[in-house]
Amino acid sequence: MPFDDHGHLVPGVLPAPLSVPRDIARPPYVGLQEPPAYTGDNTYTEDEIAKIRAAGRIASCALDAVGAAVAPGVTTAELDRIGHDAVVAAGAYPSTLGYRGYPASSCTSVNEVVCHGIPDNTVLREGDIVNVDITAYLDGFHGDTNRTFRVGEVSEDVDLLVERTHEAMMRGIKAAKPGREVNVIGRVIGTYAKRFGYGVIRDFTGHGVGSSFHTGLIIPHYDSAPRFNDLIVPGMVFTVEPMLTLGTHEWDMWADDWTVTTKDKSITAQFEHTIVVREDGFELLTVSE
Ligand code: MF3
Ligand code: CO
Ligand code: CO
Repeated sequence: MPFDDHGHLVPGVLPAPLSVPRDIARPPYVGLQEPPAYTGDNTYTEDEIAKIRAAGRIASCALDAVGAAVAPGVTTAELDRIGHDAVVAAGAYPSTLGYRGYPASSCTSVNEVVCHGIPDNTVLREGDIVNVDITAYLDGFHGDTNRTFRVGEVSEDVDLLVERTHEAMMRGIKAAKPGREVNVIGRVIGTYAKRFGYGVIRDFTGHGVGSSFHTGLIIPHYDSAPRFNDLIVPGMVFTVEPMLTLGTHEWDMWADDWTVTTKDKSITAQFEHTIVVREDGFELLTVSE
């Protein structure tokens, strides 16, 4: 069902909704069509950063658990359940569940799916790649992270795409220094991706994150100057989450209004960290240690 005759993905069957214990606090948008407007800025106190780090650690540990389960024969719904269970066991809420009506605790984006793939009965095959994106909400703050996993052995061009997408994210993160504009992050990522002829997705971006899942601050992954000229300052928290493709940067949206694929069905990878900017660089807030 989930792959057509050409090996391209088609919508599958969604599992029964997962539940979250009543004693775990929900973010304010759950049950609403859209989140309440965010009025704060994108910088945080050390106490608040500690809370984002705690949420980010839970999301990262959940990705560790999901990654350990990735194998041929596993469904994306099974991966979602593993991530969900890890987040909930840590006392946190999986931020995507009920966000603007999104039905699952993670996004699982396979092969040509750029982002926001909904976990379903898609059975992963040797050679596929799957991005899993998990955000945890704990004590009023979100930590947002994703990784792309290889399913068994993948072809060399796909292997390199995954490797270089991670490298692109890290280069973008290292470019985030006080006194620069956020578009420097996109310039660095775009320049690196261009070396390999990769497409860089423009219309889905990094974002401010903290007490709100998406604060309104946009972090571009391509050279967008003079747009996105927000000044980077110490204490600022945002994600860097480039999506690179083996083909075009153009995309299509499925009828579910969530699943984004490359227009040419080329393979695409993504990595994401939440970071805080420091006087002399950055700190990753979505790590397991
Ligand atoms: N975690 C995604 C991000 O990096 C957002 C997913 S929103 C959802 O911004 F509703 F699609 F889950
Ligand atoms: Co994000
Ligand atoms: Co994310």
